[in-house]
Amino acid sequence: MMERFLPEKEEGYVVAVVGATGAVGKTMLEILEERKFPISKVIPIASSRSAGSTVSFNGKDVVVQDLATFEPEGVDIALFSAGGGTSKEHAPRFAEAGCYVVDNSSAWRMDEDIALVVPEVNPETLEMARYNRIIANPNCSTIQMVVALKPLHDVVPIERVNVSTYQAVSGAGGMAIEELAKQTGALLNGRSAEVEVFPARIAFNVIPQIDVFMDDGYTKEERKMMDETVKIMGADIAVTATTVRVPVFYGHSEAVNITFAGDMDADRARDLLADAEGVCVVDDPATEDYAMPSEAAGSDPVWVSRIRNDNSFRNSLHLWVVADNVRKGAALNAVQIAEILIR
Ligand code: A2P
Repeated sequence: MMERFLPEKEEGYVVAVVGATGAVGKTMLEILEERKFPISKVIPIASSRSAGSTVSFNGKDVVVQDLATFEPEGVDIALFSAGGGTSKEHAPRFAEAGCYVVDNSSAWRMDEDIALVVPEVNPETLEMARYNRIIANPNCSTIQMVVALKPLHDVVPIERVNVSTYQAVSGAGGMAIEELAKQTGALLNGRSAEVEVFPARIAFNVIPQIDVFMDDGYTKEERKMMDETVKIMGADIAVTATTVRVPVFYGHSEAVNITFAGDMDADRARDLLADAEGVCVVDDPATEDYAMPSEAAGSDPVWVSRIRNDNSFRNSLHLWVVADNVRKGAALNAVQIAEILIR
């Protein structure tokens, strides 16, 4: 049993959500409500642009505070989802004030002193947060993949993973959601589509670039998936990724090819995944049953389908893995970490 991180508080905890007006921040508030997180006071925080506006929590309007002038003393837990720069600048002052920060940006993920946590996979690494008080929430595509990999790896070690993603626009924030809607409307009405958020038109298109390119030809999103998977799994797994943006609002999909160090086959993997925490298997070719973002959106599990042997190589499998990127890929995972902090 882990020693408690935060003392028991009958009245509940003071919880701040930084980036409360954004796509992930709004969902964090919804999930705190849904899961009845014990809260004495919720503090929505954003930039000066939306400070003074209100967000709804448990049926009440709560005024959004300005991060630049907000004093974190007295906050127990802060869920940050306001970009890497904002986290780098402000998370340390929350942590120094004694608050546990669960940070959804990439600012701290690969820092060796910072825990990178998926509760179903490596909750024990949270111990690292006792002193520095900052916990990193992994990349959305990484989270859903490792939830599916872990129950298999625990039985037969994984040697290599080759993943291609089909990522929803909501992963890029509220403006990106608007861009897909606006471009789709414009094109269907014979107007031209304006490109602002993505590197190319996303409506009726597929973009093989998420985030910026690195010197080795991979994008930063691909690099995140490769590095974070190894850190979270705590194993020397060879990971390669191709990350692609598709015109879907909510729900990332992934075609994952896995090679194991020993015997593994589709039937065994299906049984292991059926019993795994946080996973739902929906996989019936006879009834054409498989997971899709249209159904995964708004749900909590990581859905696994198309479990089949890769007949081209030894001990290898294909999986199709789908999850709501804003929920399990971001907000839900952060709230699950917060739940461990108060347990
Ligand atoms: P704001 O509404 O004031 O711009 P999304 O990921 O959907 O684009 O949302 C980003 C979230 O991060 C929003 O809540 C946004 O607030 C917040 N944010 C962005 N930059 C800052 C900043 N410098 N300080 C505080 N909050 C920020």
